[in-house]
Amino acid sequence: MATATHSPLKDVLFRSWTRGDIPILARMARDLYHYIESIDPVWRTSPMAEDLLRAHLTDLYTKRYAMTYLACSGLDVVGFITGTVVHRPPVLLPPRDGLVDNAYVRPDWRGKGIGSRLCRMLLDWFARQEIREVRIHYQVSNRAAAAFWQKMGFRPWTIEGHCFLSDPSRASG
Ligand SMILES: CC(C)(COP(=O)(O)OP(=O)(O)OC[C@H]1O[C@@H](n2cnc3c(N)ncnc32)[C@H](O)[C@@H]1OP(=O)(O)O)[C@@H](O)C(=O)NCCC(=O)NCCS
Repeated sequence: MATATHSPLKDVLFRSWTRGDIPILARMARDLYHYIESIDPVWRTSPMAEDLLRAHLTDLYTKRYAMTYLACSGLDVVGFITGTVVHRPPVLLPPRDGLVDNAYVRPDWRGKGIGSRLCRMLLDWFARQEIREVRIHYQVSNRAAAAFWQKMGFRPWTIEGHCFLSDPSRASG
């Protein structure tokens, strides 16, 4: 059952997801992937992205260890955030933490506080699941996202390296 609250942002409604939201969320998540592709040469998106993301979101929705909050203007979804509760390898503490899966605000709606509001709603949801630590992966090239997550209280933590092996001699040492 979806819950909804009105925001001080005029005409924007914030609410939790329903199964019927999954097709539009998959399309917006695909737009997010294409946005990252436009700023990061390493990130490439499958031509099947929308279908694959619909299946992924359906999986998250069905298993109920995930939450998505949406920002809506009339019938239009203008932003969303998805988070999942993750069971970590037993050698690591804590046993469970939160992972922000995707966050996206449509270009015309950015910079108005929508992303912050969605993020706060998700962090509150994690807290209600007794989660005390939350992670997010973002590209170093995504400067706006880096500034956004830092503003939300996230600090850069691990670094994932990457190289292309197009020249085999590079790898032979
Ligand atoms: C990142 C994103 C979700 C932020 O949503 P938003 O609604 O624009 O964010 P807010 O208006 O709530 O901004 C909150 C704070 O984040 C920071 N911030 C947001 N956008 C920024 C930008 N382009 N440059 C620098 N700082 C930025 C600011 O500190 C801002 O606070 P301020 O307005 O008091 O200065 C949105 O820009 C987006 O969808 N970007 C494209 C997709 C993406 O990169 N998603 C994240 C993938 S990990």
